Amino acid sequence: MDRDILDFTKSISFDKRLAPYDIEGSIAYAQMLGKCKIISKKEKDLLVKGLRSLKERIGRIPLENNEDIHTAVINLLRKEIGKTADKLHLGRSRNDQVVLDLRLYCKDEVKQVIEKIKKLQRSLWERAKDWRGLTIPFYTHLKNAQFILFAHQFLAYIGMLERDKGRLGDVFKRMDIMPLGSGAGRGSGLPLDRFYLAKKLNFSQVSENSLDSVSDRDFVIEFLSTLAILSMHLSRISEDFILFCSDEFGFIEGDDSHFTGSSILPHKKNPDPLELIRGYTGKMYGNLISVLVMMKGLPLSYNRDMQLDKPPLFDSLDIIKDSLNILEKIVSKLKVNKENLKRASSNEFIFATDIAEFLVTQGYSWQEAHNLTGKLVLESIRKKKPLKEMSDKELKKIIPELTQELILDFLDPLKSVRRIKTYGGSGPESVENQIKHWGKILR
Ligand code: ARG
Repeated sequence: MDRDILDFTKSISFDKRLAPYDIEGSIAYAQMLGKCKIISKKEKDLLVKGLRSLKERIGRIPLENNEDIHTAVINLLRKEIGKTADKLHLGRSRNDQVVLDLRLYCKDEVKQVIEKIKKLQRSLWERAKDWRGLTIPFYTHLKNAQFILFAHQFLAYIGMLERDKGRLGDVFKRMDIMPLGSGAGRGSGLPLDRFYLAKKLNFSQVSENSLDSVSDRDFVIEFLSTLAILSMHLSRISEDFILFCSDEFGFIEGDDSHFTGSSILPHKKNPDPLELIRGYTGKMYGNLISVLVMMKGLPLSYNRDMQLDKPPLFDSLDIIKDSLNILEKIVSKLKVNKENLKRASSNEFIFATDIAEFLVTQGYSWQEAHNLTGKLVLESIRKKKPLKEMSDKELKKIIPELTQELILDFLDPLKSVRRIKTYGGSGPESVENQIKHWGKILR
């Protein structure tokens, strides 16, 4: 083969990552060939023994002068046991082999990602527990909305990540289908036992159509799409932390060993790792799009284009596992700045909705309550007089039900939060229930 063409078509530089799965699949395949009497017991034993010994050593063998991992394994096996190695490929094609390897790999990776999400959730849960008694404003349009318990925000993150775990579990079901025995795409004239293979390789199902089986990369696309959504969540959490660490908010602080200095500004402590998690999300989307576009025009069944599903898949898995590790590390050492949290409650207008809700309990319609509270806010702005400094007389002129004492009561963030009654809301009872609920699930 022309040297340049060979270099161009090779995939060994990246698919060597599949080596343990390729060998695992080959061992099961040899056992099946033996069991179905397609090869002799002696040949089967030799193949299995050779493959097992290869599995031990493959990490240390340079593979680069092979075209791909499948040919590398056969070539090495031939060196080890001689011509019998070629019997391994009876009825098998690289088309079903590569899907098998990829499915085995993805099934392992899903489990690893789920474990890492759990670890992050546990750290977030610890912060929720620590900060259950503290309040922060929540934001809509990045403007002060109302007060919530700080724990509520961390519990929200846990819920987002729980959905990611659910999606990964769903994708797993469609990865868990055994393709081997499909050959190049139409099956084989040899009496292969695909159900035996599924059992050996721990798959819950056998694929139903050999042509579809070698053509299908939906599980890669679904995986990448699930990881892209997960990455979007990590990016939003990072963005919240970046904001909350900023000098303007100052609600939380990262550990000195986690944030970075500046080459020119001596006072800086920058949230670079969080910015990179946010930045990498772009690559995660790109990887998904690249496989979607690569697949969209392919005729059935296998086409070499499909080799290009692996670099984006591997890249996304590397990024997501790193991001989960790093975010967990940062969360585990986050500190809160109570002074700055207090400062955040100096904006009296955050409590406007509390006043309006009170007026509804006094018999006003929501529209009336909204209007009157709006008037009160306007009066305070016009007169440049904080609500808490307005006299009973000034208050009653606008809203007869109000007194200075009542206003002072409204302006307390904890009291404000205690008024929340709804299931799933940020009231202390609901937050305690959420903490308990996740404590059980994440144990
Ligand atoms: N390296 C190829 C891939 O990753 C393996 C399958 C090659 N099959 C073929 N018929 N050329 O897709």
